[in-house]
Amino acid sequence: MKTQAAVMRQSPGLWETVEVDLDEPRQDEVLVKVVASGLCHSDAHLMVGDMLSGTYPICGGHEGAGVIEQVGPNTSGFQVGDHVVFSFIPGCGRCRWCAAGMQNLCDYGSRILEGDRITEHGSFRMQLDGKPVAQMGGISTFSQYTTASTLSTVKVPKEIPLDKACLVGCGVATGWGSAVVAGPVRPGDTVIVMGIGGVGINAVQGAAHAGASHVIAVDPVEFKRDKAKEFGATESYASMEEATEVARSYTNGQGADIAIVTVGVTTGEHVAQAHTAIRKAGTVVVTGGGPTVGIPIPVVELAMMQKRLQGALYGMLSPSADILKLLRLYQEGSLKLDELVTRTYTLDQVNEGFADMLAGRNLRGVIVFD
Ligand SMILES: NC(=O)c1ccc[n+]([C@@H]2O[C@H](COP(=O)([O-])OP(=O)(O)OC[C@H]3O[C@@H](n4cnc5c(N)ncnc54)[C@H](O)[C@@H]3O)[C@@H](O)[C@H]2O)c1
Ligand SMILES: [Zn+2]
Ligand SMILES: [Zn+2]
Repeated sequence: MKTQAAVMRQSPGLWETVEVDLDEPRQDEVLVKVVASGLCHSDAHLMVGDMLSGTYPICGGHEGAGVIEQVGPNTSGFQVGDHVVFSFIPGCGRCRWCAAGMQNLCDYGSRILEGDRITEHGSFRMQLDGKPVAQMGGISTFSQYTTASTLSTVKVPKEIPLDKACLVGCGVATGWGSAVVAGPVRPGDTVIVMGIGGVGINAVQGAAHAGASHVIAVDPVEFKRDKAKEFGATESYASMEEATEVARSYTNGQGADIAIVTVGVTTGEHVAQAHTAIRKAGTVVVTGGGPTVGIPIPVVELAMMQKRLQGALYGMLSPSADILKLLRLYQEGSLKLDELVTRTYTLDQVNEGFADMLAGRNLRGVIVFD
């Protein structure tokens, strides 16, 4: 079938809305009418070229939700009309990592920047002028319709609005998990969240949820600092120097228990600042990505103060279980989703949406399809 999709022909580059050919679902695949897709900085990394796709063009979007339009032959577990949230990392359920409850590290995840079928390398579900189009995260939610593996698809209750549920596909899960699981934040903790975008704001709400006494938000943008307080930050600052000083004032001079780095383009310098801010045996959670190599931290301080550097992919969650858990928290009123959406866009406005993100105007922008 044909569908309108936002593709990028090279990095650096901009999104172009074009008509692409989309494969019908094969076995263990579903065709989904996308309802909404959040704009996450990981797609912006492709635009500026600090992250590259294995194949161009690429159809972007990895934080989406929709309704199943067609189910592949001999495919169990899904029916036409089911509501789904996509997971940007597939979960096979069988590899060592899935079996151990670390679905975010599923072996198939290594393929997500290739954009082809995870089980059939070199086979693509989208084509433009006869040439293969990569699917961001294996899902491509910047498209009216998309075909994806059932391993990347989580069935969700129909009563949850999909234009909010989509956010749980990346930003909410990544941020909330960075605090609650990767930290893990414990009651009474002093926590710094550095970078209050769509990911960091959810680390703020996760830290508050986990019972932190002090949730200190850091962002150079005043709008972000104000918003952080609405999501549970006890205070916010423009610089890590101020945040570090205040964290020390609460901890007898020791420093934050946990500092979570969710800066849009995270550098080694940012991680080093977070490392300075934590106490002995504290943890820096590194969630943000960026192209720099090297973290300028004193080795002696890392070793002798027994500090811990913890990377976090997808908030260290298991999407099949945790997307549903987060949506339940939303239904119960203990997780904010509606308030995350600063502005909605049409597919044609996707570049404007990213410009707004990069200018610090949005907590999250969301593309809403007709
Ligand atoms: N690890 C994962 O699984 C995962 C998943 C999704 C996104 N990410 C990454 O997380 C990062 C954040 O994504 P996002 O969508 O929230 O981005 P975003 O652009 O919405 O937010 C980034 C925020 O960082 C702030 N910032 C910039 N410089 C700063 C500094 N020096 N100190 C404090 N704040 C600063 C910006 O003002 C902005 O508010 C990106 O690198 C993204 O690729 C990682
Ligand atoms: Zn993302
Ligand atoms: Zn797996």
